[in-house]
Amino acid sequence: MHTLPAIAPERLPALLAAMPKAELHIHIEGSLEPEMIFALARRNGAALPYDGVEALRRAYAFSDLQSFLDIYYAGASVLLHEQDFYDLASAYLARAATDNVVHAEIFFDPQTHTARGVSMGTVVRGLHRACVDARAEFGISATLIMSFLRHLSEEDAFATLEQAMPFLDCIIGVGLDSSELGHPPEKFARVFERCRRLGLHVVAHAGEEGPPAYIWGALDVLRAERIDHGVQAVHDAALMRRLAQDRIPLTVCPLSNQKLCVFPDLSRHNLVQLLGAGLVATVNSDDPAYFGGYINDNLIRTFAALAVLTAQNAWQLARNSFEASFVTDADKRVWHQRLDECFERHAARG
Ligand code: ADE
Ligand code: ZN
Repeated sequence: MHTLPAIAPERLPALLAAMPKAELHIHIEGSLEPEMIFALARRNGAALPYDGVEALRRAYAFSDLQSFLDIYYAGASVLLHEQDFYDLASAYLARAATDNVVHAEIFFDPQTHTARGVSMGTVVRGLHRACVDARAEFGISATLIMSFLRHLSEEDAFATLEQAMPFLDCIIGVGLDSSELGHPPEKFARVFERCRRLGLHVVAHAGEEGPPAYIWGALDVLRAERIDHGVQAVHDAALMRRLAQDRIPLTVCPLSNQKLCVFPDLSRHNLVQLLGAGLVATVNSDDPAYFGGYINDNLIRTFAALAVLTAQNAWQLARNSFEASFVTDADKRVWHQRLDECFERHAARG
């Protein structure tokens, strides 16, 4: 492993903020801030069952994944037109660029919208145009991953894939999200096989609340290239070995895990254990508008809560984020070099 010059612990927050990084686990609907929910509701003439932004924010007290998903799907109902999806993604990408995110792989949940009569084209065209413009406007590259909702049927996922066929040029891969418990990866074996045959990348949420068996299923049945969350893997030694040996990345989301009570507190998060076992762990924001922070907030607050984490770990997390991304090897080399230059600049300052 690359050995770093010493960097004083009090300089860690600035370093975490400044280092170039990729974000690989962000649900675009989860970046919908309360202010934008109200602005879009006004623009689209939609009624909301909350008195205002502060009342809505007060409702963001979650006890588990499902308690969050209920409010998250309700929030997304203000998204109706192509411009709404454009504005949403553009706001996220502008914000991510200020965190020195140089590349983002963005989840979107089409079924949340198509079920309300919003077409696949409306969703994808708006999101894709924002990704294209962000490269010129904010200097960030961005791609889209279409997520199937696992609380719905595989038949529904197949219908969604069919609707996405004209837009596959704008989509790099598929994912699996929503209510995990009771919806194992095996439920989606056939639709994921079809996606793989279409040349799409494959990732899946697994082991957020669900057992290690769901991570095994995501790997062996869906053939997932990355596991989203995956923090429950620590309960299965053989699985930990498999993830390390095959260099299967985990896209870990510490503030999400805290807000959804996966861990009682950030200081009890198992990121140190995951990194210590040699896993390709990355840190991401999941649903930043709901969980109290974007990617740098996740990094800075996690490092503050887990005081054993060092500059070496910071470098590893950023390096992992590029290794785990679906970009060309040439792009990875450029970003690895920019990362090393950033650490050298910080080390030179003492
Ligand atoms: N959709 C948005 N955020 C999610 C999460 N943390 N887990 C599963 N599905 C989600
Ligand atoms: Zn997620």
